Order: sequence, then structure tokens, then C-alpha cells
Amino acid sequence: MAKTILITGGAGFIGSNFIRYVLAESDVSVVNLDALTYAGNLENLTAVEGNSRYHFVHGRIENSELVRYICKEFKVDGIINFAAESHVDRSIENAQPFVDTNISGTLALMTIARELCLERFLQVSTDEVYGSLGAHGEFTEESPLAPNSPYAAAKAAADCLVRSFVHTYNFPAVITRCSNNYGAYQFPEKLIPLMILNALENKPLPVYGDGLNVRDWISARDHSAAVWLAYTHGKIGEVYNVGADSERKNIEVIKAILALTGKGEELISYVKDRPGHDRRYAIDSTKIRTELCWKPTVPFENGLAETVKWYQENSEWCAHVRSGEYMKYYKKQYGVRVSVSGKPV
Ligand code: NAD
Ligand code: TYD
Repeated sequence: MAKTILITGGAGFIGSNFIRYVLAESDVSVVNLDALTYAGNLENLTAVEGNSRYHFVHGRIENSELVRYICKEFKVDGIINFAAESHVDRSIENAQPFVDTNISGTLALMTIARELCLERFLQVSTDEVYGSLGAHGEFTEESPLAPNSPYAAAKAAADCLVRSFVHTYNFPAVITRCSNNYGAYQFPEKLIPLMILNALENKPLPVYGDGLNVRDWISARDHSAAVWLAYTHGKIGEVYNVGADSERKNIEVIKAILALTGKGEELISYVKDRPGHDRRYAIDSTKIRTELCWKPTVPFENGLAETVKWYQENSEWCAHVRSGEYMKYYKKQYGVRVSVSGKPV
């Protein structure tokens, strides 16, 4: 019988990419549990709304009663946890929501998964748990955890809880740690969509510090494929790094966006650096490539050009996100069908 998976945070950038991917590439059914924070946008999922294998429930992962109810009601076989507070700058302003969702939320999900003997739990983590690199070297799965931002610290704490559940309870969990994602439907607080939208609107492009910080970019579609492989074929208790060998300095990415949007470099505006700004991330993904036969398929320059085109062609999505209009979508589409407790009304 086809399986049912609880996807948390499925209305966010990567979670919604993953839901579209897994519904197209497999026969599983999906229950999407999302709190619809500022980063959750059901307009990301209009393509699958009518799919009989897709269900949405509005609620928080920390709500154990709700998670238990969903798992029983939908006969969930396993959980993939994308839900998180995900923006470093916001974590610097206020770390509490990061502790609540990223740590307490992960613990609540695992506790219910254990209670109900679910067959698999995949924790979607990040390379930021490893901290910052100098000019040379790459993060491997053996690199020590050395998180530098409250966001990264909360993700690292969750990874430690996952590890402890595997060790203590033989809990069937796998962790993926991916580098910076880009692509369609990314909320314009992160570097690439923010710079694209600002360039399209002739607004200044705020570059932190000297613009020479390096990030290792991967398309959200390639990340989705890696998560699915790790969920279906990963070894219990293992960590898999995911990356596409696409290191770029921020300023290189910004100049490429200006070229793709036909805008001039006078829009570049150097601003005060982010406190504790990690200098460089780079991922060694040999393990997932050799053990699970995963490989990235989208070269960065092609993916960036496609992403710019997507933002140019989806002006309504962009306008709704910029104005806050997207937050009304839930009420319009789902308000009368599912209550916050998860019980149908
Ligand atoms: P996002 O901020 O776009 O989406 C997060 C989603 O989680 C939103 O839909 C939000 O409403 C939901 N959410 C937040 N708190 C919740 C809660 N308490 N209960 C239920 N839902 C809640 O994030 P993203 O960029 O799509 O990242 C998804 C996951 O991937 C995160 O775990 C993140 O740490 C990880 N990750 C992201 C990147 C990246 O470059 N964006 C890279 C590696 C790993
Ligand atoms: P971001 O997209 O916030 O991802 P992360 O901090 O998780 O890697 O930022 C990517 C890089 O871009 C990071 O080095 C900070 C930099 N940046 C800017 O220079 N200006 C901006 O306005 C933003 C949002 C980020």
C-alpha cells in the first residue's frame, strides 16, 4: 500500500518545492502541517491543491496533541521535518521563536513519532551547524558542530536531539545537512530573491560587509531529490551532507543578478555587516553521492537564470508576498475546512 508522510513546514520555500517533487515522483500521500508564519505561503502550493494525495493542516509542530491526531487520522508512516524559523537576521533580533520551533518543535515531533512507532523520521538540517570556514577546506559529516548564529545553534541543538534519540531509543532517524538553497517561491528576505526583486524594482541591493562572504549554492529541486533519497534509502542514524559544489562570493551572485535583470551596478549598496557573519560555507557531499547515488542536476548559472525568469514571470506572487496579501490566502481557501486543532469542521 502507498505510504503517507507528514511533511512539516510544507508551505515554506523548500517544503513546498519538496511537496511538488514528491507528489510528481512517487505515489505517496502527503499531509502538510504548517503554522503559516510570515514564511508560510499556501500560494506556493496552488499546483497541488486539487491533488487527492495532498492534505493541509494548519498548526504548529510543538502541538503534540495535534501531531498525534494527524498521525492517527491520516495513518502516517513517517515524518520529514522542514518546519523551522530559518532566517539568520531574524534570529539575531530574537532567538526565542527559533528555540520554540527548531528545538522544542523537533523534540515534540520525535516524541510522537516514537510513541506511535513511525517507521522513519528525517530531519532537514543545514550546513550552518558546522560554523564558518576559512579560505580552504569543506565541511564533511565528521566536522565538529560549531554554530555561530542563534539560527544555526537552534538547528544544531535539534540535530543533537535527533542523534540522542537514535542512540538512546534506537529511533529510526536520518539527518540531511544542505548548503544554501535558491529557486522559485523563496521568500524575499534571503539573498537571491531579495536582490532579484530589488533589482526589478530599481531599489538598492544591500550588500553586507565587503561582499566577499562565500556561500555554496544548490537548487531547491536538487535538495528535494536528496531529501527523498535520504528518507527512502538513507541508513538510520546517519548524517548526509548535501551540496552542489557551487561556491560563489556574494558580490559575484549579486552582479550576476544585475546582469540577468539588465540593471546597472550603481544599484549595489554596501551596508553594515551582519553581526557574527560566517565567512565561508562549502560542503563535501561525497557520502550521499557515493552511498545513495545522488547528484545535483542544475548548474548554478542555469538555475540562477531560471530563478530570475521565474520572479519576472510571477509578478502576482511577488506582489502578494511584498504586500502581505498572501497571508489572506489561507482564510479564503481553507478557513472553513480545517480548524486549528486539526479536527475537520
Ligand atoms: P522557510 O522559512 O521558507 O519555511 C519554513 C516553514 O515552516 C514555513 O512555511 C513556516 O510557516 C513553517 N513553520 C515555522 N514554524 C513552524 C511551526 N512551529 N510549526 C509548523 N510550521 C512552522 O524555510 P526554508 O528555507 O524552506 O527551509 C526549510 C528547512 O530547510 C528548514 O529546516 C531549514 O533550516 C532547512 N534548510 C534551509 C536552507 C536554505 O537555504 N533555505 C538550507 C539548508 C537547510
Ligand atoms: P542569507 O540568504 O540570509 O542566507 P544565510 O545567511 O543563511 O547563508 O544570506 C546569504 C549571504 O548573503 C550571507 O553571506 C549574507 C548575505 N546577505 C547580504 O549581503 N545582504 C542581504 O540583504 C542578505 C539578506 C544577505
